[in-house]
Order: sequence, then structure tokens, then C-alpha cells
Amino acid sequence: MKAISLARNYIRLETSLYREAAEKSPRVAKRRFPTGRQRIWLRRTARLSKWLDQNGVEVPAKIMSPYELDVLERCRARIPLKYQYRALNALREMARTHVLFPELLAGDEPAEIIDLSAGGCGNADVLGQYGHKVEVCDYHDANAINPVGHSYTEIHKFLGLECRFFDGRDLPYAFPDESHDIVLVYQAIDAYGPVALWYDIVDELLRIARRSVGLVLNPAVPRTTENEALMAAFIQDMRRDRNAFVSTCPETSLPALRIDK
Ligand SMILES: C[S@@+](CC[C@H](N)C(=O)[O-])C[C@H]1O[C@@H](n2cnc3c(N)ncnc32)[C@H](O)[C@@H]1O
Repeated sequence: MKAISLARNYIRLETSLYREAAEKSPRVAKRRFPTGRQRIWLRRTARLSKWLDQNGVEVPAKIMSPYELDVLERCRARIPLKYQYRALNALREMARTHVLFPELLAGDEPAEIIDLSAGGCGNADVLGQYGHKVEVCDYHDANAINPVGHSYTEIHKFLGLECRFFDGRDLPYAFPDESHDIVLVYQAIDAYGPVALWYDIVDELLRIARRSVGLVLNPAVPRTTENEALMAAFIQDMRRDRNAFVSTCPETSLPALRIDK
């Protein structure tokens, strides 16, 4: 079935689940999942599915079914609304994989991948369907307002994943040399340190990787001309010195880089 048809069914199903939950608890609905905010993410899900169809990527039906987690439970578990949608988490990573590592969706040998700031774990969900082994890590600060251990735990449980603690600021990282085929850091390297440190971080990620490193960069924060220039220079340096392949994430339009060893 085409991705857009799977997405239409998925959106219908999620919409009815959220409608039922809103009838049960209108106050929570107003605060945590107003219809307008739901529409933003569901529209993005439909847009991504169209993009995948246009690019000839077949989508596994399994990732196009909601997390078996009651909507009010998703809210109680403090999963950000954006990450409550399995298809969005998964399709975003499918599209990024198609751009950066198409071989992983094309029947390549099973690879050992580590996702260092896995968030909603879309990579593990998608790549697991293709037989790849994805280890997930993330930063868990028990004292933070929205600690990862709390906000994504229910997704980890549903997907049967053990999420390992990882702090990207703490160099060197506790992984042996060449212990994984591919090392991923999507929309998180800015939390590991300032741009000036990214060069050392990339060296460290390449030490851990047997084959490649994948990065998706967040927008510069704060969004000053100086920070944007530093990021642009980083991308250019990666292209020149590391022969990086540079593209953009089809969902977020953020810079996406593949650096091979
Ligand atoms: C914008 S989210 C990206 C999540 C996911 N990779 C994605 O692309 O959807 C940023 C991620 O960085 C993680 N993070 C924040 N500080 C971190 C740190 N010091 N070390 C490792 N990860 C961190 C967060 O927990 C979160 O999962």
C-alpha cells in the first residue's frame, strides 16, 4: 500500500483516539492536545508520506499504527505531543535515512547502529523493521523539568527498547573503537557543546564508527549571524576536510550530513 494511503488510515485512527480522549477529559485536551496543534503534526505526517511515495520508498505498515498507549496516558507520561505520533517519529527518520543512508532501506546486510540522542526512537522503530540492530541512548537528568527518562519511557516500553544513559558533553565517550557500523546524532550535537567543539565530537564519533557518522543539525541557538556563520563554516569544513555528503532533512529542512570513514 502507498505511504499516503497508510498515512490517511493512520491519521483517521489517531484523530478518533484523541477525540475520544477529549470527550473523557476536555480540560486535559484543551491544555495538552488542542485540535489545532494536533493538525500541525498530522499534516506533517501526511506531507512526509507523500514525499516518501514520490521518492519511491516503501513504508512498512507496522510503523503506521499508533503506539498502543491510551492518549491520556501519553499525556500523563509527559510525552511531548509531537512525539506522541508514532508515524511521524518513524517517517521523519525514514526520510532522513533515505537521504543519508539509503542502503539501510534497500536490503543491505544488517548493520549495528547507535542513536546517541534517540528522543522518540523513530530510528530504532524503522530500522528494526529492516533487521538492523539499533542501540538507543539519551540524556536522562532526573532533576530536569522534562527528563528523558520520564518523557520517552512509555515509548521505550512499547517498542521494547532499553535506553542507555548518555551525556554528549562528557568526552571521551564510553564506547570502544569501531564498536558500531553507524553512529547517529540527530538534532542534538548543539547540546553536546558549542560549534567550536563539534570538530572534536565528530572525531570521537568517527572513532566509535566502523563505517559512518550521521548528523542532523539544529538551528543555531541563539539565532545570531555569528552563530549561523560558525555553523555554515562547520558544514563547509566537514565537506572539505571529511568529504561529508551534505543534504537537508525532508521534514525539518535542517542540514543533514553523512561522514564516511
Ligand atoms: C530535538 S531532540 C532530538 C531527538 C531525536 N534525535 C530527533 O531527531 O527527533 C534533542 C535530543 O537531545 C537530547 N539531549 C539533550 N541534552 C543532551 C546531552 N547532554 N547529551 C545527550 N543528549 C542530549 C535530548 O534528550 C533529546 O533527545
